Amino acid sequence: MSEKTTAEKPATAQATKATLQYDGKSYDLPVHVGTEGERAIDISKLRTSSGLITLDNGYGNTGACQSSITFIDGERGILRYRGYPIEELAERSTFLEVAYLLIQGELPSKTQLESFTQETTIHTMLHEDFSRFFGSLPKDAHPMPSCAAAVGALATFYQANESDEEVRRSVIRLLAKLPTIAARSYKHSLGQPQIYPSNNLDYCSNFLRMMFAVPCEPYHVDPLVARALDVLMILHADHEQNCSTSTVRMVGSSRANLYASISAGISALWGSLHGGANQEVIEMLEQIAASEGSAEKFLTRAKDKNDTTRLMGFGHRVYKSYDPRAAILKKLCPGILARMGGSSQLLDIAMKLEEIALRDEYFVSRGLYPNVDFYSGVIYKAIGIPVNMFTVMFALGRLPGWIAHWLEMRKDPQFRIGRPRQIYQGATKRTYVAMDQRS
Ligand code: SDX
Repeated sequence: MSEKTTAEKPATAQATKATLQYDGKSYDLPVHVGTEGERAIDISKLRTSSGLITLDNGYGNTGACQSSITFIDGERGILRYRGYPIEELAERSTFLEVAYLLIQGELPSKTQLESFTQETTIHTMLHEDFSRFFGSLPKDAHPMPSCAAAVGALATFYQANESDEEVRRSVIRLLAKLPTIAARSYKHSLGQPQIYPSNNLDYCSNFLRMMFAVPCEPYHVDPLVARALDVLMILHADHEQNCSTSTVRMVGSSRANLYASISAGISALWGSLHGGANQEVIEMLEQIAASEGSAEKFLTRAKDKNDTTRLMGFGHRVYKSYDPRAAILKKLCPGILARMGGSSQLLDIAMKLEEIALRDEYFVSRGLYPNVDFYSGVIYKAIGIPVNMFTVMFALGRLPGWIAHWLEMRKDPQFRIGRPRQIYQGATKRTYVAMDQRS
């Protein structure tokens, strides 16, 4: 599969500066032009030259940085990691190879990939003291805060200094240990003993075995399930300046170490408007199935401004056309369901919701299409991942992207601590009132 061929954007004359007129004065502002023709007005000197700042609720119009990792064209539904279309990577690559690509910037040679895989494999074990850590957590703890806390705790086991070698070792430890932490969080929630990682299995097979094997029982990993998981993680591996990646960059900009920054990213991803949406989508589909409610009725509520219901898995800040990841996942669903013998009821409901929504002016006029979360849960459920682990799966996939952005930010010659400004709208100056004078 390759990305949709649509007419390339016409090359327009790229002006190199913009002029702001305000209060009888003019301010020339430089314009940066990206390799894909995107343009940004550089306001780095705006306040010192004019006393003005800009305001951008939710940063929908604000570039936080210049990056070479991932390119998204939301209008044309294009997603590329280091220039490679997501469709080709999903079809021909593996998650560890994509992780190497995102972090190093180039596809690895055979030897480089073997060495990267070997290093990641032999660091999957957690320090045995983690047993006391997990033992202290309530049984019904959601695995996302458990993972965020465990990743933060890695900084207590490895007092990471900032040398290049120590940072490189932290990168390997995180890629190697997050699947172990995730599976451990799940086993803890079941009250089952942990399954130690095996050095004889590939990345996804090792994770599946740690999740579903039980002690003293043989466990066979279905290669098709392992491959489906590998593709799901490729699709989640990066997405430029999304909420959780921006969180990792912000925390890392204070010179907090990589473990602390990734732990913050996991917490940001948990939100239902971000990575938590995949769990909400399945719960939404199950709610429609259980109530024998029609897709039409549900969509009526999702469009009602007085109803907080949203069509979860639909809409995106950047994609105003089909999220290419959703298209790939939609194609994957029937084969996985057929192999696993799972009911297609939730998939049928999801496809019915999509069919109706994409004919509905409310959704079409707002550019609301399925995003990566709309179909991912159907596959996770079919391969046996419990619903409260869905967002953990998203975090496992997104880890290399978070790491790549943290490294890029720290190596940026213009690196500085993130510190946005504000427009104050509170009380103007007033004098303190003694208690007995207050009304
Ligand atoms: C991810 O940023 C990334 O790249 C994220 C991500 C990644 O890989 O990291 O792609 C992963 O987070 C995907 C998004 C998962 N979240 C959901 O599926 C939750 C449901 N979607 C929405 O909450 C919403 O679409 C967002 C949060 C995704 C985007 O919100 P925006 O850009 O702030 O848009 P908005 O809330 O201002 O909505 C614009 C309009 C509003 O209506 P009006 O005020 O114009 O009348 O569209 C409506 C919204 O009410 N709208 C929806 C809707 N999403 C937006 N109405 C019903 N159902 C929805 N899902």
